[in-house]
Amino acid sequence: MSILDVKRLSVNYGEVRAADSVSFSLEPGQILGLVGESGSGKSTVALGMLRLLGAPAHISGGEVNFQGQDILRMDDETLRALRWRDISVVPQSALSALNPVLSIGEQFRDTLAPHGAAHLAPEAMERVELDPKHLDSYPHQLSGGMRQRVALALALALSPKLVVMDEPTTALDVVVERQILRRVMALQREQGFAMLFVTHDLSLLMDFATDIGVMYAGRLVELGPASAFKAGGRHPYTQGLRKSIPPALNEDREPYSIPGAPPRADQPPSGCRFHPRCGLATARCASQEPSKDHFSRSGQESVHWASCWELNHAS
Ligand SMILES: Nc1ncnc2c1ncn2[C@@H]1O[C@H](COP(=O)(O)OP(=O)(O)OP(=O)(O)O)[C@@H](O)[C@H]1O
Ligand SMILES: [Mg+2]
Repeated sequence: MSILDVKRLSVNYGEVRAADSVSFSLEPGQILGLVGESGSGKSTVALGMLRLLGAPAHISGGEVNFQGQDILRMDDETLRALRWRDISVVPQSALSALNPVLSIGEQFRDTLAPHGAAHLAPEAMERVELDPKHLDSYPHQLSGGMRQRVALALALALSPKLVVMDEPTTALDVVVERQILRRVMALQREQGFAMLFVTHDLSLLMDFATDIGVMYAGRLVELGPASAFKAGGRHPYTQGLRKSIPPALNEDREPYSIPGAPPRADQPPSGCRFHPRCGLATARCASQEPSKDHFSRSGQESVHWASCWELNHAS
């Protein structure tokens, strides 16, 4: 049974629809990576579904069922009780999560005391390989990587069932990024939480996600197991993203980038939003939104789909 079931979620900034009818679900222990170019709506989905976006953002449709309750229709008190204990978020910049005038220990107290768990702070620090003596430090006294570990420690302190990470390591150098991610994955295996992991780095996701969703211009265009993406993916945009991964030093191929630029959110193209940049596009792609094409393997229930007329045509 799913722990999180997002159905046709749409989120607007005023008149502009930045996430359009996005649906996916998460099972316990599953790591779903959400990938796409800057501005494709990844943060809008990840934070909007938890009602963490302020004005001018508003939810313009859908349901977000967490353990059978719709987060979008929950009263504030019920939602507050879920935060940190059942669902937690690690944001892109730990600086935005940490209060500069409070010591790390004070921030742990503020977060954990309402749940009767203030005593868990030292253990939470150790879990992310930080010396508990840093509970006396202030955010500016720590390096970027250490601050991101603090944000992680706060998010995992109460052993939540669902953890949402919005580009938690993009501000860090690659070595520190990999160290922190290795720790995250070890903790994920230990604690078994489900995770939604937002990034623009498809190669990173192919290393550790169990499933991958690709966003383009506010829509989810392909969703499936990571293995299907390692095998190439199906949507032409996914294939473009895969080819855009920089070649390794020993690899003999030219660097590639998808032609054109993503559309503005207030002027999405008609039909398939990717059609102006797609080498396979036909007249139908410009006029009609493609339906989802499900790929099933030997009678198994299909968990892999992509929205593309040309795939429909080919199958
Ligand atoms: N507060 C806001 N007001 C108006 N428009 C916004 C706001 N926040 C985001 N948008 C718009 O919504 C669209 C989706 O933005 P979002 O931040 O979700 O993208 P993203 O995929 O997370 O990008 P990035 O990889 O750069 O973080 C973009 O066109 C963006 O300009
Ligand atoms: Mg973002």
